Amino acid sequence: MNNLETFALEPGRVLARKYVVGELLGKGWEGEVYHVTEIATGIERAAKFFFPKRNPRNRALKFYARKLNKLRDCSIIIRYHTQEFFRYGGQELPFLVSEYVEGELLTDLLKRQTGKRLQPFEAMHLLYALATGVREVHRLGEYHGDLHSDNVIVNRSGLGFRVKLVDMYQWGRATSEHLQDDICFLIRIFYDAVGGAKRYGSQPPEVKDICCGLKRSLILKKFRTSERLCSYLENLEWS
Ligand SMILES: Nc1ncnc2c1ncn2[C@@H]1O[C@H](COP(=O)(O)OP(=O)(O)O)[C@@H](O)[C@H]1O
Ligand SMILES: [Mg+2]
Repeated sequence: MNNLETFALEPGRVLARKYVVGELLGKGWEGEVYHVTEIATGIERAAKFFFPKRNPRNRALKFYARKLNKLRDCSIIIRYHTQEFFRYGGQELPFLVSEYVEGELLTDLLKRQTGKRLQPFEAMHLLYALATGVREVHRLGEYHGDLHSDNVIVNRSGLGFRVKLVDMYQWGRATSEHLQDDICFLIRIFYDAVGGAKRYGSQPPEVKDICCGLKRSLILKKFRTSERLCSYLENLEWS
């Protein structure tokens, strides 16, 4: 059980007498997420199954549930629904049911682009969508802690992007350093979205002014808070 790498849940299996398993939506370090349907209502949900070694005494699940609940009014964060149990290998294991987000992982969206990158102006729209969302989290005195392109679900919509964040990491109580880490993660996402190291030298000044060569001290001097990052983007001056 400790070396479990996949739950390999069969589509059609009924869990906790309430949910039918659908496809595997994704997996990561902590566990696997499946599409499930609530039998009574037909409502689609996402269910996260934690690898037992990543969830001792159900700590990871409880942390995630409480954090999602605390951030339930933040439009960028998925909604928590409930915790249930299912039988696996002779044991009762917990799983977490949340809102199901349609869309695509940012990682996959980037791979699909010509040259595997967004144009600077598009990437700024993406960064703005992320920064305004993270600003709501920071206003509640919380942080995400693990912002990267596998934890961002995107939908392109009109001129911009609709984004949702999954999978927060527990580094302990929120300190200003944790909030600042989120800002650096956002800049890193932007840097990668415009093509990463390979393209950095030839980026326009507007891009370099945001990335600050990925130097933490420079980034944080410029964008001490997510509020600052948002207002910087709102007032961008073009050369
Ligand atoms: N609510 C959701 N709706 C749709 N897909 C999701 C949802 N939550 C997670 N996923 C998918 O499952 C993957 C793994 O979920 P995540 O919570 O990031 O697990 P881990 O902690 O193991 O990285 C994500 O990268 C994403 O592709
Ligand atoms: Mg993840």
